Amino acid sequence: MKMLSYDDVLLVPGYSDIESRGEVDISNVLDEDIILNLPVIASPMDTVSEKEMVVAMHKAGGLAIIHRYNSVREQASIAYSAVKELGYDAVLAAAVGVNGDCSERVDALIDSGITVICLDVAHGHHSLMEKALKSLCDKYGDLVHVMAGNVATLEGFDSLASWGADSIRVGIGGGSICSTRIQTGHGVPTLASIVDCAKTKYDVSIIADGGIKNSGDIIKAFAAGADFVMIGSLLAGTTEAPGKIVDVPGVGKCKKYRGMASRDAQLDWRGVSSAPEGISTMIPYKGDVENILNDMRGNIASGFSYSGARNIHEFWTKSKFIEQTSAGYAESSTHILNR
Ligand code: XMP
Repeated sequence: MKMLSYDDVLLVPGYSDIESRGEVDISNVLDEDIILNLPVIASPMDTVSEKEMVVAMHKAGGLAIIHRYNSVREQASIAYSAVKELGYDAVLAAAVGVNGDCSERVDALIDSGITVICLDVAHGHHSLMEKALKSLCDKYGDLVHVMAGNVATLEGFDSLASWGADSIRVGIGGGSICSTRIQTGHGVPTLASIVDCAKTKYDVSIIADGGIKNSGDIIKAFAAGADFVMIGSLLAGTTEAPGKIVDVPGVGKCKKYRGMASRDAQLDWRGVSSAPEGISTMIPYKGDVENILNDMRGNIASGFSYSGARNIHEFWTKSKFIEQTSAGYAESSTHILNR
């Protein structure tokens, strides 16, 4: 496949004998003893994932990753309070960086009951990632699931897998609030990155991260070989996303959504900002995240059934991409309002 993006492709409907969405199992296995009934992970961002999102995602069968843009004590206390509310068996996740207070943070999070640690950096195919990943796996590899990223290539994916990652976030610069490709000239269309990384020989889950605009993109990410999707913007602006609801004249109720490398976010979490690679914006308030997740669940099941697949393994075998032209893309969008 060429270096295509989500909007460049469609999936061809195939023969199906599925009579209702209830026959479709959309769950997937993150690790031996971790199954997500909803294969959706909320991004480790300070306008997406704190305690309320963690609880809501857990109840819906997905996962949210507590962000790391706070003190060790604040992050550990969010983790502890989520563990207290959901029981100690709950699978809970939190992010750490690859240097600075990384090991202190990991210790505090594991003490609080976290079982998935996400090594979270913009460019994961890096010597600092190698050092952090190897030391985390040496110390806690048997105790926790180690997620790492982000990477954009098979070479990057295989490096992180060989350094010990159990799952890897794939996608650089494609997020709705990202400006990395504009500011640095680097990146790969995320769909193409997933196709590339899916050629890996490692038994490591692929998490398609960034740029998912609708449930159609989720289905396309799975068809390309992803096991899970990671989502920011579609979950931001909900009741459970951190931040206040603000009345914006002419727009109505809004909440903030921002890239963690935006000037706004950098000023908040480290007091200074330089070379931003993201933006900060207000987006319309969307109500409870449960409604969004319910629709997503139904749309994913429906997406599988259009290819005649009862689960993700069948979907990987049966789904078939075609490229679409700009006229095809226009026809694929709702277009009556453009007439
Ligand atoms: P969506 O499209 O779901 O993307 O809103 C969320 C993902 O975007 C990444 N992220 C960033 N990437 N600059 C970037 O280039 C940033 O400031 C930034 N903040 C978040 C991250 O992978 C997230 O899951």
